[in-house]
Amino acid sequence: MTRAQPVVAIYPGSFDPITKGHEDVARRSLRIADRVLVGVACTASPAKRNLFSVEERLGMVQEVFQDDSGIEACQFEGLLVDFAREVGAHFIIRGLRAVSDFEYEFQMAQMNRELWSEAETVFLTPDQRYSFLSASLVREVSRLGGDVSRFVSEPVLRRLTGASGE
Ligand code: PNS
Repeated sequence: MTRAQPVVAIYPGSFDPITKGHEDVARRSLRIADRVLVGVACTASPAKRNLFSVEERLGMVQEVFQDDSGIEACQFEGLLVDFAREVGAHFIIRGLRAVSDFEYEFQMAQMNRELWSEAETVFLTPDQRYSFLSASLVREVSRLGGDVSRFVSEPVLRRLTGASGE
């Protein structure tokens, strides 16, 4: 199929840190988009305290995808829909691991569409090997001395080893 213009998707998240589940979703997104912008949110939600600074989170995303053509790392501040509009994104990608993710994801998708009527959210499921995986569990297991090398790539592992914990 020849497309008139490249299809751009934004895959936003906290990525604190990026896990192999996130990586899997980003790479799958290339099946439906020509360019995937992995957008690291600067603005922390009031309920969350990030382990890594936005610079560190962005650096990890950049390193993880350095050999993946079509996937680019970027950071954004403020509303996702404003950023999506600015970069000309055709849709927003979110990963769905289980039914328990759905309520929050559905609310966000609907709110984003209220804010920008053109916001289309596409949900992708990661490989089932990663269906239980979350950044918060990776942080916790790592903080308590567990081996997380199966769940994150080397650039993340290196920084987790150096991180002082939550
Ligand atoms: O990985 P996360 O923490 O589930 O990602 C949530 C994220 C960053 C995608 C969401 O909080 C977001 O879009 N933040 C940017 C601010 C915004 O647009 N908030 C309204 C969302 S409906």
